[in-house]
Amino acid sequence: MIHGLRAQRLLGALCLAIATACGSGPTEPDDTGFSPPPSNPDTIPLRQLAQQRGIRIGSAVDAGFRYTGSQGTLFRAKLAREFSMLTPENDMKHASIHPARDTYRFGPADSLVTFAEANGMQVRGHTLVWHQQLASWLTNGTWTTAETRTLLDDHIRTVVEHYKGRLVAWDVVNEPFNDNGGMRSGFWFDRLGEAYIEQAFRAANVADPQAKLFLVDYNIEGINAKSDSAYALVSRLLARGVPVHGIALQGHFQVGTVPPTLAANIARFAALGLRIHIAELDVRIQLPSTTATLQQQANDYRDVFAACLTTTACEAVVAWGLTDRESWVPSTFPGWGEPMLFTGSFDPKPAFFAIYQLLK
Ligand code: G3I
Repeated sequence: MIHGLRAQRLLGALCLAIATACGSGPTEPDDTGFSPPPSNPDTIPLRQLAQQRGIRIGSAVDAGFRYTGSQGTLFRAKLAREFSMLTPENDMKHASIHPARDTYRFGPADSLVTFAEANGMQVRGHTLVWHQQLASWLTNGTWTTAETRTLLDDHIRTVVEHYKGRLVAWDVVNEPFNDNGGMRSGFWFDRLGEAYIEQAFRAANVADPQAKLFLVDYNIEGINAKSDSAYALVSRLLARGVPVHGIALQGHFQVGTVPPTLAANIARFAALGLRIHIAELDVRIQLPSTTATLQQQANDYRDVFAACLTTTACEAVVAWGLTDRESWVPSTFPGWGEPMLFTGSFDPKPAFFAIYQLLK
């Protein structure tokens, strides 16, 4: 479990000092007992290098995970070999997992969690409360304030209890801020005000007291108005005894824009006693990519991992996808793409080797 990370990081430092004594062959089991398949015998699995540095490295997947035939076999083998953490990219979102008021559809997310457990990967739950991907039965309904509170509690209790004891963390509230730092309008905020955030964390904590509970947003990686608001909010919540355990910085970057204040920002959240996860890392490039932009992307990935390694409070870096082929980027930002560590043919990119060298 992630709770032993401080000890692991100390061990990692020792391993770096006496590399041969610790050993790091490609097929050695990690702390979970999982032996990665020797699908890429020239490299040590990233998850093993990350473990030696006291962090988890993750990937968010769903569509690619379900490829059939050899593509599916390769996808899942790569996922299990290189990564020690898994986030369902869409399958736990409200519209997907709760399609009708009295109907929950756990099957797709269950298959990801089962795969993760079989391969010694921790799972981050994503996400309980968000302004997007809400089921239409919810957004089209007319609800009193009391009913809305009950709907929020029921959803969180049912989903979190379903996975109780199996997930290491939950993204409880996702993207509560506008870029100017104000609270974002949305289904829950418009009806319940800021109180929806405290209610959500308390409900999740009751449903699974072991899971670490995170507040998540994008454009809060560096120190700016939006991250100042996140800092102020979690400070207020902590002062009221609300069970917030971590801050997740999404990390969706345009190439060359990793903020120089990333490590300082991580440090100030760590000083509040919070865990930090880089939860949705990708670095998009204007297409066609060039040797120079792929190298800048590699530097960006390296800088994010390096910032995480500056404090034991930063426990995990999760890439928002596995290969360039499945990424959400090209359909959302026309003309941009290739944001991941692997090409659509599963070949490692310069960013992979930059992380590899840094962790090694
Ligand atoms: O569920 C329907 C499915 O029924 C239908 O057959 C299919 C046809 O296109 O669409 C499916 O919904 C899509 C869904 O992904 C699942 O594949 C949506 O159209 C599509 O918009 C949705 O995109 C996701 C997006 O969140 C939604 O806003 C991306 O895959 C996902 O990567 C992205 O992830 C978010 C994080 O949750 C929060 N942070 C930002 C990040 C990137 O936007």
